[in-house]
Order: sequence, then structure tokens, then C-alpha cells
Amino acid sequence: MSKLINNQANPNWWQNAVGYQIYPKSFLDSNHDGIGDLQGIIQKIPYIKSLGVNFVWLSPFFASPNVDNGYDVSDYQAIDPQYGSLNDTLEMISKFHDNDIRVVFDLVINHTSDQHKWFEEAKKSVTNPYHDFYIWRKPVAGHVPNNWVSLFGGSAWTYNQATDEYYYHLFAKQQPDLNWENPKVHQAVAKIIDWWAKRGVDGFRLDAISHLKKNQSFKDVIDQEDAMNNVPGIDQLLAGLSTDFKRNHLMTVGEAGGVPVTGAKRWVAAKTGYFNMIFQFDHVSFWEKFTVGKVDVAQLRQALSNWQTGLEGIGWNALFLENHDLPRAVSYFGNDTTMRAQSATALAMMYFLMKGTPFIYQGQELGMTNENFTHIDQYRDLDSKRFYKEELAKGASPEDILFKLRSKSRDNARTPFPWDASPTGGFSDHTPWIDMNANHDAINVATETQEPESVLNFYRKLVHLRLTDPVLLNGQYQLIDTHDHQLYVYTRETGKTGYLIITNLSDNPAAFTIPSPYQHLKLVLSNTAAKPTARALTLAPWCAYLCKYERN
Ligand code: GLC
Ligand code: CA
Repeated sequence: MSKLINNQANPNWWQNAVGYQIYPKSFLDSNHDGIGDLQGIIQKIPYIKSLGVNFVWLSPFFASPNVDNGYDVSDYQAIDPQYGSLNDTLEMISKFHDNDIRVVFDLVINHTSDQHKWFEEAKKSVTNPYHDFYIWRKPVAGHVPNNWVSLFGGSAWTYNQATDEYYYHLFAKQQPDLNWENPKVHQAVAKIIDWWAKRGVDGFRLDAISHLKKNQSFKDVIDQEDAMNNVPGIDQLLAGLSTDFKRNHLMTVGEAGGVPVTGAKRWVAAKTGYFNMIFQFDHVSFWEKFTVGKVDVAQLRQALSNWQTGLEGIGWNALFLENHDLPRAVSYFGNDTTMRAQSATALAMMYFLMKGTPFIYQGQELGMTNENFTHIDQYRDLDSKRFYKEELAKGASPEDILFKLRSKSRDNARTPFPWDASPTGGFSDHTPWIDMNANHDAINVATETQEPESVLNFYRKLVHLRLTDPVLLNGQYQLIDTHDHQLYVYTRETGKTGYLIITNLSDNPAAFTIPSPYQHLKLVLSNTAAKPTARALTLAPWCAYLCKYERN
């Protein structure tokens, strides 16, 4: 008998929680084909439990032709056989629950795969009952209907001979967008939500959810966002969808890049919001694809503080630095060559103790770095391959393109999880579907478990603190603005008790004097042996202190 998790009795469970994102394809291969799978995840529940996290979010493992690694679903109620079966899925859910870990799936409903039966029907004729499940336009003067582009390059329209129409796809042409203006689409998706809720799923991460509404004028746009992101009228669609989640007591976190904090109230307000949380991307410059360079610390402070103060008393933040689409944080924000562990732990403390629910992406807790691929054949991500081809055609040199890919390719986050120092990292006994990071002999679970000061053990301490101290759950966030390009300092406070989080996010020493209102300081956690001895501090590069205080 597996444990019963009652989300109705505990509707805000996701606030006192830390999430762990699993990318199933790269977590653990249990059946010797070089591809991670559900039985692999089940085997590693003790490891996930050892982190102290209390829910997992799994990237899609549903039936899919895998053009976009499962973000192109061909059947929402079937499991991709490379990952396992429905029985494996149910076993996984119940074993997580036995360990008091809730389970969040990834719901990709902005689009389906072009091999979903809905689309296979829809494309046959304009009178087919599924035709209106997708977005169609007649050619204009023999060409695409407008200037709307795909986020994966090129026009967002692909021609369908059988109906002499174009269909719209925000992503790859194998990912046609659903037509959410059609109430039947909502009805069909609602059934899928109910179906999974009945099988024990505790919540959903909602893929690309800010794109559900398209601009119904279908006219050319100057700013592409006007065609497809947070388009006026989306509220009605989201409100409808949110009833399905509420009915089933499901937690929701929407992927909503480009939704401004001023408008986010509608999305995540405690009682009336459509979702519990959203992922915003202001601090990771998500849309600046394939650019090299780092976010400036002053910019980072501003982006994150904006959301912290903007949602205070209104809604709840989702806190993250990494996911399966982003470069590794230690490579993007930190120093992954000479100060890897030091910068990984400073970054961890910086974001993790803000107000909200922290998410850890698999491997982030080890301080994994970007890959170091040297040949385009090593890449698997369709968008990276597309970029390579396009740039090559424009005359760029392979070396320059590869340099950019090493900085921003989504494959940076998708290399196999390193369990140990062996040639395939304990991930598989077969050649993995994508190359391991070359540095996995040093950065892996086995090695970091042995080192008390490892990134892994630092994350464990952070998770424990976050889940046991009510000040870190509820305390108000306040930035202490240092007006520089090195430090990120803030407090979390309730009543007279608070935490001071002091991090130096740079390769140089930085001076900081602890302001006088903060008294009776007690060092709770740091990532360095050097302890602060006076209020005037000189912080070593990538040094991080967590101090508890009382106000006078
Ligand atoms: C989201 C996913 C990304 C995927 C895209 C299309 O941004 O995180 O991996 O490619 O949606 O589904
Ligand atoms: Ca496998």
C-alpha cells in the first residue's frame, strides 16, 4: 500500500518546499541503452531523498517522436517506451510518495507533436472534426500569411498541401500550436489533467503557457511578442484552464517568460491567480540566444529584487538559476575554471534563501559546468543544430559558432548526470545518447559525497535550513543595495529576527560593513573557512555568509 498524499488538506504544501528538476533522458539508464529511464529514477530515489527536497518536477517522458526531446507529445496518456511503461510511471509516483516526495509532471499544451492523432486528423481536410484544434491560414499571394517567426528560426508557418493552408508553429514545424480559441481543445486537455490527477500526480509545470493566446488579427507585427506572448485575452483562457487544476488540488508553476512583474498579479495572486507560481526569466536573459557574456551583478540584483518586492504580499515566487534550457549557472554567472566550487556555493546561497520556492536542476547541486564540445556532431539539441547551420550559411567560422554554443547551447544542461568517476559516470554501461562532461571524473556524486565541503553537501545544508526555519519561509525580503558590481546582500526578516545573506559574486575581494540595526550576529552558514570577526568585512572572491540577527 502506498502512502496517501492529501493535497486538499494541505493546499499550500508547495510553499514550504524545495523542488528538484529531473531530466529523465540524462538521469540514470537502468537497461543498458545509453538513455536514462523511469526505472533509473526509481533506483535513485534514495539520492533525491538525501538532498532533502520534497518534490520533483520531471521533464516530459510521454509518447513522442522526440524532435524536441519530448516537448513534442504525440500521446499525453502514453509513456515513451524508451523511458518505460505506464506501470513504471505509477510505481515511480507511489515510491516518491512513500518517501514524502511529491511529483510534478511537465504539461506541454501550447502545441502537440505533428504525430499526435489530433494533428494527423486535422491536416486531412478543412471539414475534419479536429481541423479546428490547430491554427490555419490561407496563403497570401502564394506565400506565408504574415511575418510571424518561430522561436527556433524561420517562419512560424508551414504549408499543408491537403488543405492548401499554412499551420502555425511557434517552435519547430513538428510542433503545431493548438488553437485555444476552440473550446474543444480545452475540454480535451481537461480530460488529460483529470486522468493524471487520478493517478496521483501532485502538480504540473506548464510549458510555454504564456503563449497560449495568439493575436487574432493575424497581421504582421513589429515586435514578435505581440503575435504570441502574453497577448491580451489570454486571461480568459488561463482562467478556464485553472479550474481544472483547482478542481484536482494540483500545484502549478507556469513557464511565463516576458510576463512583467506588474502584470503577474493576475497570474499568481494568492486566491484569484491562475497558477501558484510562474517561472520568469528576467535574471537569466533567456531570450538573448547564443550570446556570449555574463549578467552583470547590478542587473541581477535589480531583476531578482523586482520580483521579490513586486510579489510581496501578492503571490509566491519560483526561485531558480538553471533548467534544461539554460547554461549551467556556475559557467554563466560564476567562475567555472579557478573558483568553481566557491562560486557555485555563493550563487546557491544568493538565490536559494530568497522568498519563494527554490528549484534545483539536476547536476546544479554538484556544481556541474557547461560541456566542452568541440564538434557539431556532439550536439543533440535541434535549436543548437539549427543555429550552427544558419550561422555557417552566413559565413561564420565553425570555431566561432562552437564557441557560442559552448556558452549557451541547451545541451549544456543535458549531459548525463555523473554518479561516479568511471568512464560513463555510472550513468550507463552503454555509450550515452550525448557525451558526458569531460570533467565528470572530478564532479560527480561519489566524489562530492566524500568531501564535507563539496557543492553537494552545501546544497544539502541549504535545503535543510530552508525547510526548517520559518523566517526563511515567510520572512520579508529586503535588498541592501551596495550600488556596485560585486555584492548581492539582502535580508529576510520577521519581527525582530532575521537573516542577513551576504554574497560576493565576483572574482575580486569586496568590502562591506554590516549596518548597525543588525545586532547579535551569529554566523549560520558560509562557504569559506575564514570567519567574519568585525562588522567591517573584506569578502574574499565568491565568499558567502549567512548570519542570523536580532534587531535592537
Ligand atoms: C519550453 C521548454 C523547451 C521546449 C519549448 C517548446 O520552453 O522548456 O525545452 O523546447 O518549451 O516546448
Ligand atoms: Ca535506458
